[in-house]
Amino acid sequence: MANSPVKITETVLRDSHQSLIATRMTTEEMLPILEKLDQVGYHSLEAWGGATFDSCLRFLNEDPWERLNKIRATVKNTKLQMLFRGQNILGYRHYADDVVEYFVQRSIANGIDIIRIFDALNDVRNLKTAINATKKENGHVQAAISYTISPVHNIPSYAKLAKQLEEMGADSICIKDMAGLLLPYEAYDLVKALKETVKIPIQLHTHYTSGIASMTYLKAIEAGVDIVDTAISPMALGTSQPPTEPIVATLKGTERDTGLDLEKLSEIAKYFAPLREKYLKSGQLNPKVLSVDINTLLYQVPGGMLSNLVSQLKEAGKEDKLLEVLEEVPRVREDAGYPPLVTPTSQIVGTQAVFNIILGERYKSVTKEFKGIVKGEYGKTPVEISPEFRKKIIGDETPITCRPADNIPAELDKLRAEAAQYIEREEDVLSYALFGNVAEKYFEYRKMQKYKIDNAHADNETKVHPV
Ligand code: CO
Repeated sequence: MANSPVKITETVLRDSHQSLIATRMTTEEMLPILEKLDQVGYHSLEAWGGATFDSCLRFLNEDPWERLNKIRATVKNTKLQMLFRGQNILGYRHYADDVVEYFVQRSIANGIDIIRIFDALNDVRNLKTAINATKKENGHVQAAISYTISPVHNIPSYAKLAKQLEEMGADSICIKDMAGLLLPYEAYDLVKALKETVKIPIQLHTHYTSGIASMTYLKAIEAGVDIVDTAISPMALGTSQPPTEPIVATLKGTERDTGLDLEKLSEIAKYFAPLREKYLKSGQLNPKVLSVDINTLLYQVPGGMLSNLVSQLKEAGKEDKLLEVLEEVPRVREDAGYPPLVTPTSQIVGTQAVFNIILGERYKSVTKEFKGIVKGEYGKTPVEISPEFRKKIIGDETPITCRPADNIPAELDKLRAEAAQYIEREEDVLSYALFGNVAEKYFEYRKMQKYKIDNAHADNETKVHPV
């Protein structure tokens, strides 16, 4: 319904800090504001998944499952949402179905309500297991379309994909514009087309990187989008989401009024304002990521990809080749069947473009990952790769045409045996499955902390009760 309230997903606990400060917000920094966040009346709080899991274990010495438990214990009314990378779960390779299924089951058992599931190539076969597992656990499946711009991606192709996702059991669809490429009038047409194609709600996710995001939301709202992702103002803008308060104020009194209370939002902003200052002072928040990056509009490459290209060229002492590399990116993308540029495809295409230019000959040297895309290890590319090009890259190796996970035997039992010495809660096996050594290091740290606490207790006891 075009005249229903626009619903808001607040991203401050996940994408906002993932985009601005490399996912370094700690659970301690979140806890004091959770009760207020819960009282706002958001559609959902995006609070888990994405890079938060990796960051907890790798950088913060935190158990991501414990974070989820603590958030859920305080957030009693608002739905909790997570981001899930299809068959990659939250990691960087394809996992066997039994690991995907168990991860979904434990996520929902620990309090997740909505799982946003996406695949870098929009290969729906890579979403199937996660979608079915979420439905089995009575979770809300939000299937995402990775938005990109290319000669083969257009409104009819996205509408077709949305229809397919609805038929697979999605409860809602997310247009996931991870790079901030979606222009306002394009958003209007896209949302309109999707609303005419599917019955389930449409949510829009974008980033402020190129400076257009709030305009994009407004046009999408005019076209009938149901839910948008925003971040509370001190943690918004730049590479993060559009700020929550201006959207709420803009819609006030209109037929799409969010119904959210600006006073309550301002209390939340007050909590995050000093944290923002702290991140700026410590250097975690680089003011550079807060300004408009027009390269995104010029070259349709995500902000993060551009800075990777620059640093790769710098290392090779070929910074002057940036423009040539940026012109090579679309050609490599075409050769590789037009993958959307999102983790991990953005790095893979970018690195290959750098090689092609600095070695002075195209595909003279090919990375293992680029071979993987051409071979079909990541799934089906939006356009089929030409047989001649494939032969040039992988030679006589047999391409993978089935769903890649069909080639991965069940692995949960093996992982459980490997991690046995560390397991204190059943979810530990999943932390280990995704981040092996990193998880082990965390488990060792956890053991040491317990040992310290136990010893401190023992000391106290002897002091209080001298024998
Ligand atoms: Co995002």
